[in-house]
Amino acid sequence: MRIRFPDGFIWGTAISAFQTEMGSSGESVFTGTDWFTWANDMDIIREGLVSGDRPQEGDGFWDLYEEDMKRAKSLGNNAIRMSIEWARIFRTPTFDVDANFERRGEGEPISFSPSPETFRQMQSIADLDSLKHYEKMIDFAHSIGLKVFMTLYHWPLPIWLHRPVECHRDILKAKERGWLDLRTVEEFAKYSYFISKTLGPKADSWETINEPEVIAINGYILGQESGFPPGINNVPLGFRVERNLAFAHNLAYKILKKFTGREVGIGTAPPYFEPATDSPRDVEIANTARYLNNEWILNAAIKGEFDNNLSGNPDEKIKDFGGTDYVGIDYYSRMRVRYSEEKSYAGVLPMEILPCENCSDFNWDIYPEGIRKVTGWIYRAYLKPIYILENGIADREDRMRGNFIKDHLASLSAAIYSDNIPVRGYFHWSLIDNFEWADGFSMRFGLYRVDYGTKERIRRNSAEIYEKICKGEEV
Ligand code: BGC
Repeated sequence: MRIRFPDGFIWGTAISAFQTEMGSSGESVFTGTDWFTWANDMDIIREGLVSGDRPQEGDGFWDLYEEDMKRAKSLGNNAIRMSIEWARIFRTPTFDVDANFERRGEGEPISFSPSPETFRQMQSIADLDSLKHYEKMIDFAHSIGLKVFMTLYHWPLPIWLHRPVECHRDILKAKERGWLDLRTVEEFAKYSYFISKTLGPKADSWETINEPEVIAINGYILGQESGFPPGINNVPLGFRVERNLAFAHNLAYKILKKFTGREVGIGTAPPYFEPATDSPRDVEIANTARYLNNEWILNAAIKGEFDNNLSGNPDEKIKDFGGTDYVGIDYYSRMRVRYSEEKSYAGVLPMEILPCENCSDFNWDIYPEGIRKVTGWIYRAYLKPIYILENGIADREDRMRGNFIKDHLASLSAAIYSDNIPVRGYFHWSLIDNFEWADGFSMRFGLYRVDYGTKERIRRNSAEIYEKICKGEEV
């Protein structure tokens, strides 16, 4: 079978900074993030929130990027998706830099007008060696014919903005509370400004924030279960974080647009929520889950429409939100859900998630049709071009990945040709095995297996299937 895709389609693999950079040299190891502290903290490990695996013993992409990018190229790719570690660039606080924020009533920054002086001050604080290193990575990717899809923010915060262990102990008393505080939004805006004026025009496409809803839900609503910092379960705080992230996207979107001339988007990770039966209550709970999980944040970040009461309808519309040029979708699995009075999801939704039918190593339900369904739904809701910025499977033995790729891409092709959805590209998660957050190195998503002892990369068989599809060959 030959799976059809349009000419000029973007083919890539995705990685992120924290998950891949460290492990090859002293310089590759960077300790200044909340995630680094969190993953290494003995109490957090003892509580079972994280695996105890050490991100500093990872892939070493920081030094080995040339070989890894060549591997990406060998897959018949024309792009790579990666991210910048904010805290590497700004190792010390940027609080004192003035960027002329315009704030709303409660102090939320809605726009800002940084000046040449703002830039000068940011530059005097920035770690210019790290900046240069990212520049070299981009140049190398270009030199071998890969476009760079850059994510400004893929989860770790500078430690000077978020002390996750203190927050875990007592979120109300902690001082550095990450995305719960509006100052994080402002510092993010300044970081975005600095990057848009430096690396900005070099990268080919920008994503502001990877999956804002996952930061909020995994950290603040299902923190105990997911093991994401700060590991708490508090629904109002979770939606406060989502709200702040929506403001952060708005500011970063506008500034990146202004200085880079590139397309700029935001990414979300919708599971396909499927009602277990067609009973009205199951259907309704699936719709509610979908709304709270993904539409809430997209409505807020893209349209400035906030549903503060979680009623299902926005009760506040903030003007002058910049929007987005595309929506990035990270699709992994189906969640079959049913209404349940006995079970509750996150302590609030009367919902039960049924066990997977076709299970990955993560026990996520493999459901290729879902990529077509979520793509259609998101396109119809926001009418923006779509990139699949992530899609992949935890499959250590590589027993399922080949079919996973084939089936998901056949389904995506149907979204393009049968449903007329403007899908511009697809990035497989991931190029190489990497540090899977709270689960450490146990979950293996790579087209290349990584031996963490020797840092050797070994091509998995499924990589060939991906390569053939990217090259337009039969599979
Ligand atoms: C995240 C990745 C992660 C992947 C698999 C995505 O939601 O962006 O960082 O590794 O899921 O869990």
